[in-house]
Amino acid sequence: MYSELSAADQAAITSGGDFWHTTAVESAGLPAVTVTDGPHGVRMQASGGDLLAGVPATCFPPAVASASTWDADLLRRMGEALGDECRSQDVAVLLGPGVNLKRSPLGGRNFEYFSEDPILTGVLATEWVRGLQSKGVGASLKHFAVNSQETDRMRVSADVDERTLREMYLRAFQRVVTKSQPWTVMCAYNKVNGVYASEHHWLLTEVLRDEWGFEGLVVSDWGAVVDRVKSIAAGLDLTMPGPDAEGDAALVEAVEAGRLDAALLRTSASRVQEMILKAGKRPAGSYDAAAHHALAREIAGRAIVLLKNEGGLLPLPGSGVSIAVLGEFARTPRYQGGGSSQITPTQLDDALTQIQSSTSAAVTFAPGYTVDGVDPDDALIAEAVTAAQNSDIAVVFAGSVHETEGADRDSLDLPASHRALIERVAAANPRTVVVLSNGAVLVTKPWDEAVPALIEGWLLGQAGGSAIADVLFGRINPSGRLAETIPVKLADHPSFLDFPGENGHVRYGEGIHVGYRGFDAREQEVAYPFGFGLSYTSFSYGSAAAVATATGVEVRVPVTNTGGREGREIVQAYVSLPGSPVSRAPRELKAFAAVDLAAGETAEVVLTIDRDDLAYWETRLGRWVVEGGAYRVSIGASSRDIRSEVSVEVAGDAARVPLTSESSVGEWFADPRGAELLGAAFAEAAAAAGADAGPMAAMAADPAMMMMLGSLPLSRMAKFPGSPLQTEQLEKLVAAAND
Ligand code: BGC
Repeated sequence: MYSELSAADQAAITSGGDFWHTTAVESAGLPAVTVTDGPHGVRMQASGGDLLAGVPATCFPPAVASASTWDADLLRRMGEALGDECRSQDVAVLLGPGVNLKRSPLGGRNFEYFSEDPILTGVLATEWVRGLQSKGVGASLKHFAVNSQETDRMRVSADVDERTLREMYLRAFQRVVTKSQPWTVMCAYNKVNGVYASEHHWLLTEVLRDEWGFEGLVVSDWGAVVDRVKSIAAGLDLTMPGPDAEGDAALVEAVEAGRLDAALLRTSASRVQEMILKAGKRPAGSYDAAAHHALAREIAGRAIVLLKNEGGLLPLPGSGVSIAVLGEFARTPRYQGGGSSQITPTQLDDALTQIQSSTSAAVTFAPGYTVDGVDPDDALIAEAVTAAQNSDIAVVFAGSVHETEGADRDSLDLPASHRALIERVAAANPRTVVVLSNGAVLVTKPWDEAVPALIEGWLLGQAGGSAIADVLFGRINPSGRLAETIPVKLADHPSFLDFPGENGHVRYGEGIHVGYRGFDAREQEVAYPFGFGLSYTSFSYGSAAAVATATGVEVRVPVTNTGGREGREIVQAYVSLPGSPVSRAPRELKAFAAVDLAAGETAEVVLTIDRDDLAYWETRLGRWVVEGGAYRVSIGASSRDIRSEVSVEVAGDAARVPLTSESSVGEWFADPRGAELLGAAFAEAAAAAGADAGPMAAMAADPAMMMMLGSLPLSRMAKFPGSPLQTEQLEKLVAAAND
């Protein structure tokens, strides 16, 4: 039961008490509860510390890495572990996960987001939320919505058509909300089609609550609220941070003046109360830092993507082969991005130490560049080249120097210092392995051509150094897969012409063709495709079989480990509908599954495609529609490595678009009832006019001419001289067609 709060207390509780707490209302026995970032660790601001300095907590792999595991179970375990850490620090709500799509590889917060694909994002984030909330700690699904860039993030309007919005930018939010009911949803800073997300009634109320059934509270991003009254009216409940006495007073005044419905303020206040009461039920907890570090290492190991391994250079033997470890990132790991998600780790593994302890052979180190050094330093590079020449194998660590919330990147290139190091080392030692540390894709062409082995190590969190050594020495057989396409060059990217916009607007011009969808639709070459990743073993696929079920499509495919060691394959199901009248991507990921196989073992992998995920947003009806027809299901090891294809007939939803007098002749004839009625009307007119039927009637009788007439709306046709159809007939015809 909620206490009855005065209007003043209702207003006060809908803004924060400070940066990280809700407002306490002592008279009503409501304590202040703590909310904090998020998402890959618990960043509790140390008392007296600055905003971004947190007390030590496990820095799990950021979403860029955890998404590359394609492993929902690992994400659930990460969520559970975060829940335990929250409980140990009395945190009620952890501000994550971030499920915005990676629209452009330049996005400054791509390291905090999962993927360019909404299903992969949604599946993984759902499990993360389930794991966290199973511990009695709330999630905050963010940033709702269309916060896919940092440039002008507090003001820019993301201008995006509704189909794209629904199918791409809202889809992961919808999935997480409907499947895991996060306690809170955080509204984004930006505008969506001209309206601030924090004031967007359609988004916050009509879509989120009325359509999706969201039961929790909407919290603002920190500083996203411009006008408290407008926000409450739109469906936002809690403004952060606080306090905001001025806004509280404005709310009370708006209610008194009748400008704001008192019930809306009461409802928002009760949602905040409900969250506080719910939080009060979670028991205090503790966690085992060593066990969480081990989990962080396990996830990081599964996140590493092996992009190239010519001649089986990897894994490295644990003895007999001397190794030159080159690049400062081996010693000073780059393991997370900047901004609100920055965690103070409980411990930090560096790859150099871990490599040293993985081999009995000589390991030489040379930094090659300084941590922030962008311009090549000849002396440092020369030292590294000498080390490479004197060793059997060279392992070069390189990557991005800056990735932070608040700023987009301006290029996909490696810093010149890193690139020069790779090129000169590879020229000196043909057995060169490159390990990348970066929060979003980097262009690898053309320098990777001179490098036989390439590891995408993302930002791997505090245990990344050990995980890299695990993969280098084969203690873990890599199974990470790209959750985002690596393009040959930035200009190839579907978002290129419309990012980051100008003068307050960014147009989502590529529409539904985000990421790999756009590369595939334009048959564009890529460096490494979405879903790609190698293993130290190999897999073959048998023929897939697919059956339509009441709830979707079930696909079965036998997969065999054809190599010499145990390994994990990520089996992916892409769907298309050839001949569909609506624009569609050539392949859309709809399901995936991880399978662990011993050498020589075969298993039947079952992939379940939800019927809902086959739907497209039908703009004329304003709802989701599963089109009937023969769907092509492509089963592959990546979006561009399809191993088996199968066609499955799926029954469509009843989705008739009503005919009107503005519908064209072609649309009338495409509709069975419409064709019957219009055909009869034309025949009647022709019979009545006899030989003098006139040019329009003659055209209507000729199929070739009908193609030309096809685009004529009925109302316009009726106005032509000699038309077989008169304006007076239309109303009756329309009524009969839609009867
Ligand atoms: C970020 C959010 C974060 C919040 C609180 C904002 O700047 O956009 O992701 O949760 O700050 O730190």
